[in-house]
Amino acid sequence: MTDHVLIERPEAHPGVQVIRFNRPEKKNAITRDMYAKMTNALTVASTDPAVRATAFLGTDGCFSAGNDMADFLAFAMGGSMGMEVIEFLRALATATKPVVSGVDGLAIGIGTTIHLHCDLTIASERSVFKTPFVDLALVPEAASSLIAPRIMGHQRAFALLAAGEPLTAGEAVDAGLIWKIVDADAVERETLALAGRLAKKPPEALRIARDLVRGDRSEVLARIDEEAKHFAAQLKSAEARTAFEAFMRR
Ligand code: COA
Repeated sequence: MTDHVLIERPEAHPGVQVIRFNRPEKKNAITRDMYAKMTNALTVASTDPAVRATAFLGTDGCFSAGNDMADFLAFAMGGSMGMEVIEFLRALATATKPVVSGVDGLAIGIGTTIHLHCDLTIASERSVFKTPFVDLALVPEAASSLIAPRIMGHQRAFALLAAGEPLTAGEAVDAGLIWKIVDADAVERETLALAGRLAKKPPEALRIARDLVRGDRSEVLARIDEEAKHFAAQLKSAEARTAFEAFMRR
């Protein structure tokens, strides 16, 4: 069976752990198993002194199309959502070492909101950031309803999270969602080099600097839980089920 998330430690970049989406045939849509594997990798990063920075990467032309729609539909039809998503979000929000990301192409749903928890994100010009939560009768997640308005202001956060308006890479830089734009064929190289530079810095000073910049995480964790309650309720709604079925029927 193909491994849909690859965890790598590139020799050329000591101290870097890569979490790579590897499900291009489904636009790197994220299943419960994939969340569980990423949570494990983030936990390892926090505890293993050999890991000094984590880098999220996708595949050529696609970072991630967000949560797997089949999983959403299974839950809407009465199945269990499990704890995988919420555990991943908590691990991401409480990561103790730098997290960076490299985006080339589609970044949808959690494929966009994940970057709110990354310290530096590099993207190609052709990248598109979009969160169609409300169009799917869902609500914002990953504490995006708290973090996004803080970094980009109400109007841009509302456009992204509630109106589902896409952001180009340039708009994402202007909004403070991502750090900078590079050529598509340089995204991976530059992201790994960036993580490698962070991995070489004095770890304790970097940890303190990061904690100071990020601030208190308890509010973020509380918002993740609050959003998750609404999200779960909406997933069970008739309007959400209609939206998932429409996607699966296309
Ligand atoms: N969950 C499950 N499967 C997904 C998926 C998702 N989130 N996104 C894409 N896929 C699958 C498609 O079903 C398709 O599978 P198939 O070839 O077996 O039919 C495959 O990935 C390719 O997707 P396709 O829609 O044909 O590619 P596209 O380039 O025309 O469109 C997207 C790409 C991402 C714009 C479109 O697939 C899409 O809107 N996906 C849903 C994104 C979303 O709403 N995510 C949840 C956010 S909360």
